Amino acid sequence: MNDIARIGIITVSDRASHGIYEDKGGPAIRDWLQKALTSQWQAVARVIPDERAVIESTLMELIDREGCCLVVTTGGTGPAPRDVTPEATEAVSEKLMPGYGELMRAVSLRAVPTAILSRQTAGIRGKCLIVNLPGNPSAIAECLEAVFPATPYCIDIIGGPYLETNPAVCKAFRPAGATK
Ligand code: MTE
Repeated sequence: MNDIARIGIITVSDRASHGIYEDKGGPAIRDWLQKALTSQWQAVARVIPDERAVIESTLMELIDREGCCLVVTTGGTGPAPRDVTPEATEAVSEKLMPGYGELMRAVSLRAVPTAILSRQTAGIRGKCLIVNLPGNPSAIAECLEAVFPATPYCIDIIGGPYLETNPAVCKAFRPAGATK
């Protein structure tokens, strides 16, 4: 597939979506992907409140209508009453990818003991992988560095575009025999 990859970036935050503070997480995801990806891609970004129905409809819009092969969310993964990003992710996913959450929590734990408070997960909807990141912008590079090496191959397997990476930032791993 030679299509330009479309990657969704969703900031889930009541305060950022109401303009109470600047969205730092969405731009941090975009910057990291800009450095990591050498194949062509374009961002489809949204900033939305911590409302489960809105998160679900935004995920479905970016995947089913905008054709994203990857959607990265930031925020709403904790234990607070309004933290519902994992529930929305699970509701729209056909398959869950629990290894993503396990690995991200493990690497985050080296930085902060509160890493265990994130319920971040990942799932597959159609030809798209959804990955949750915590809301703290400093978590973004830590988490993406950990899970991104396996992500291009995951997107190959589900029928998405062939993502290529800059090995100085992220060495994508594809098993021997995997074809372009
Ligand atoms: N992971 C990393 N790498 N860095 C962090 O600062 N914050 C933790 C955790 N995971 C954090 C992290 C905290 S304090 C919380 S409450 C949870 O993520 C959930 O954050 P969220 O609700 O903003 O998604």
